[in-house]
Amino acid sequence: MSLLIKNGRIITAVDDYVADIFIEGETVSVIGKRLDMEADETLDATGRYVIPGGIDPHTHLDMPFGGTTSSDDFETGTRAAAHGGTTTLIDFAIQTKGRSTIEALDTWHKKAEGKTAIDYGFHMIITDMDDDRLPEMRQMADEGVTSYKLFMAYPGILYTDDGTIYRVMRKAGNDGTVICMHAENGIVIDEIVKQALKDGNTAPRYHALSRPTRMEAEGVHRAIAIAEVAGVPVYIVHLSSADALEQVTLARNRGAHVFAETCPQYLFLDHSYYEKPGFEGAKWVMTPPLREKWNQDELWRGLKFGDLRSISTDHCPFCFKDQKELGIGDFSKIPNGGPGVENRLSLVFSGGVLPGRITVNEFVDLTSTAAAKMFGIFPKKGTVAVGSDADLVLFNPDRQETISVDNAVTHHMNIDYSAYEGFEVTGISETVISRGKVVVKDCQYVGAKGDGQFLKRSGYSG
Ligand code: URP
Ligand code: ZN
Ligand code: ZN
Repeated sequence: MSLLIKNGRIITAVDDYVADIFIEGETVSVIGKRLDMEADETLDATGRYVIPGGIDPHTHLDMPFGGTTSSDDFETGTRAAAHGGTTTLIDFAIQTKGRSTIEALDTWHKKAEGKTAIDYGFHMIITDMDDDRLPEMRQMADEGVTSYKLFMAYPGILYTDDGTIYRVMRKAGNDGTVICMHAENGIVIDEIVKQALKDGNTAPRYHALSRPTRMEAEGVHRAIAIAEVAGVPVYIVHLSSADALEQVTLARNRGAHVFAETCPQYLFLDHSYYEKPGFEGAKWVMTPPLREKWNQDELWRGLKFGDLRSISTDHCPFCFKDQKELGIGDFSKIPNGGPGVENRLSLVFSGGVLPGRITVNEFVDLTSTAAAKMFGIFPKKGTVAVGSDADLVLFNPDRQETISVDNAVTHHMNIDYSAYEGFEVTGISETVISRGKVVVKDCQYVGAKGDGQFLKRSGYSG
């Protein structure tokens, strides 16, 4: 199969020019002005940006959590991601405590294989690590799982203590792999949660009030300190507050190998969502929680100046009905997480590029290129170049839509609400190509279950 894309404005993390792209099979083979080549299919990209497919390095599909399972599986979640212009995601396999990570990887392969619309990789969540199991980490890296997530939060569930964190970090550093850290002081937070419930404070907003930004900043500080001693690059996930960002900036200024991501929910939503009537605030119960609005300007500053390296979604959807409702009368039982895998590009373009907070090249970097570099898939993914996978988005920078659970252009996720209901966005991923195959055409899904492949990633290269 060959595909010719004519007259698009090609935008990468560093380029911006109008040209044609010729794709043979799964990769880009020629880029040039006015290409006169025969192709099986030709797409006219006049007036469209042609950008590398989005890379979302943080999603939770088909994830058992909070007494239930996230409502998007690898079929529905990756299809929704494709609609939103994302052509690669990196999800999380979870080690069952006391069991092997090899077994966990196998379980997650079975969840995803043959189901996905787009390519995917895995990070491995480590929940414990005896010395005799440490060699498994080398095996993980050989299998293309070159990053691990550790949790300082959720004691008794995903939490690991500092000793385990240190041992896993040392081994990861020796293997040339990366640690992703959920940085919050979960031990202190659990005490605050217990006290809140004892005082009869059971509504969703107490989820946020029991997770102060200082406890996120403390976690970030500790994670970085341990990583520096262990000799491993650390990537702070879902960073939500100015307080936490300050720790990243301080460490980076002294040359530490520290990186961080934030997510659209922390850039566009704020603590006031918890004040909605009744139980509705549960829709935004996620960890870390939404913060006071003033934090958003600081996060944008972090993105602009590079202390925040990428924007992921932390897509972890739970339906309001029956799933979020598990926490009626006890906020600590509300499954933590929210939806957004398909809204990321539109939100960041609309709210970041159009008001001048970031450039269009930074938009591409933050939603695709930086994650590809960080997680060992660049330049196969994350750019538009000869030899790279033809993962491309024809992005209409002028098209306006209102994000809604009822809008067939903006909502394909398997969830009964939108976290961004009523948001007016400009900039829509209209046509999406995954390894040379058109999977979304003019906002209609034309791909097939199983189009996506598992990505064996290489290690961290700086
Ligand atoms: O609330 C969240 N973020 N749920 C997903 C699990 C995690 O901590 O990333
Ligand atoms: Zn987390
Ligand atoms: Zn997450």
